[in-house]
Amino acid sequence: MTKRVIHVGVGSFGRRWCSEFLSRNIVDGTIEVVAIADVDTEAVAKGQELLGLPDSACHTDIAEAFAQHEADFCTVVVPPEFHEAVIDVALAHGVDILCEKPIADSMEASVRIARKVREAGRKMAVTMSHRFDQDKTTLRKIIRSGQLGEVSYVSCRYASDMRGHMDWGTLFRHTMQDPLLIEGAVHHLDMVADLAGAKCQTLFATTWNPDWAEYAGDTDGIVTMVFENGVRGIYEGSSSSATGLNDWTKEYVRVECENGTAILNSREIEIFTRQPLSHQRHREGQGQKVPLLEQPKWLNTWLIEKFCDWLDGGPEMETIVEKNIQASALIFASIESVRSGRAIEVQDYVGGFS
Ligand SMILES: NC(=O)c1ccc[n+]([C@@H]2O[C@H](COP(=O)([O-])OP(=O)(O)OC[C@H]3O[C@@H](n4cnc5c(N)ncnc54)[C@H](O)[C@@H]3O)[C@@H](O)[C@H]2O)c1
Repeated sequence: MTKRVIHVGVGSFGRRWCSEFLSRNIVDGTIEVVAIADVDTEAVAKGQELLGLPDSACHTDIAEAFAQHEADFCTVVVPPEFHEAVIDVALAHGVDILCEKPIADSMEASVRIARKVREAGRKMAVTMSHRFDQDKTTLRKIIRSGQLGEVSYVSCRYASDMRGHMDWGTLFRHTMQDPLLIEGAVHHLDMVADLAGAKCQTLFATTWNPDWAEYAGDTDGIVTMVFENGVRGIYEGSSSSATGLNDWTKEYVRVECENGTAILNSREIEIFTRQPLSHQRHREGQGQKVPLLEQPKWLNTWLIEKFCDWLDGGPEMETIVEKNIQASALIFASIESVRSGRAIEVQDYVGGFS
């Protein structure tokens, strides 16, 4: 049955929600948008234009939007520090929540939100969009099939040239303390954990802010991880690289397994399987190419559909808030590691949501 949605936040990414993720699901009857809300009048006007909504469906007062419209769920696309305020309003109106990552801008707020959702008996999931992109989904299927044997370690590289002021879309990323970890690595560490196939036990992180990066906080970092199943992970991330070799959606991910190696690089996947030494091919680019999976919806477009299926009694989403606490723990434990110079026990951060 078509689900009624209140969409909150029509900033730089919220516009893409309107023009692409929501629209695609409106066209096939998965959802209808009954209202939009943003504290900024110009943002509301943009959302109204993109979705073709009447004035009565457009609000600058979030509480008013929820008070005036019946909805099955809301989509939250405001900066992380404001997620909780919007979620509080949704819960007060008995509305389920599909929220942008990360859950919140601190570990305390993330755990608080998960508790409030549980106590209210509502459903909430988080859009870890990149994990649900076409290339990462294909890689996950290869790894989960077991064709390369057990995973030993996962290496992920993200390198984007967004070093100039406002290059990373919007002001808050240039003024916040930890833009790489909170706005970038939340996706990449989540992907590494997903491929590792277990919760992270211990991590060590170091981040820095190169002189050429026009940011208040750290744009570059390296995180090493040990997972509960013994798999290791290594992440290198840069939002201020000189050449953007592995920009957003074109990350490099290598999964080293017992019987082979899978490499995802700029949306192309190749696998190498173990051969007698005399036959081994040693160079990237010479592996067996694997075509990407095909399906109608990817990224948040797919996640909206998954959320609707879940509301209709279908399978629970992979990114329900209680499980997604793990993604928050990865970034806030990394921040603690950077500040303290110590390795951090990640499960100490999850506030009982294990
Ligand atoms: N999954 C992805 O790939 C991806 C990409 C970009 C952004 N995001 C996430 O989307 C969210 C929004 O990011 P953005 O880049 O669009 O930010 P933005 O700053 O460009 O836009 C945020 C919008 O929220 C509005 N807003 C702020 N506080 C509000 C409140 N309390 N109630 C209603 N509206 C409010 C602002 O007026 C603005 O229009 C963040 O959580 C970010 O991490 C995810």
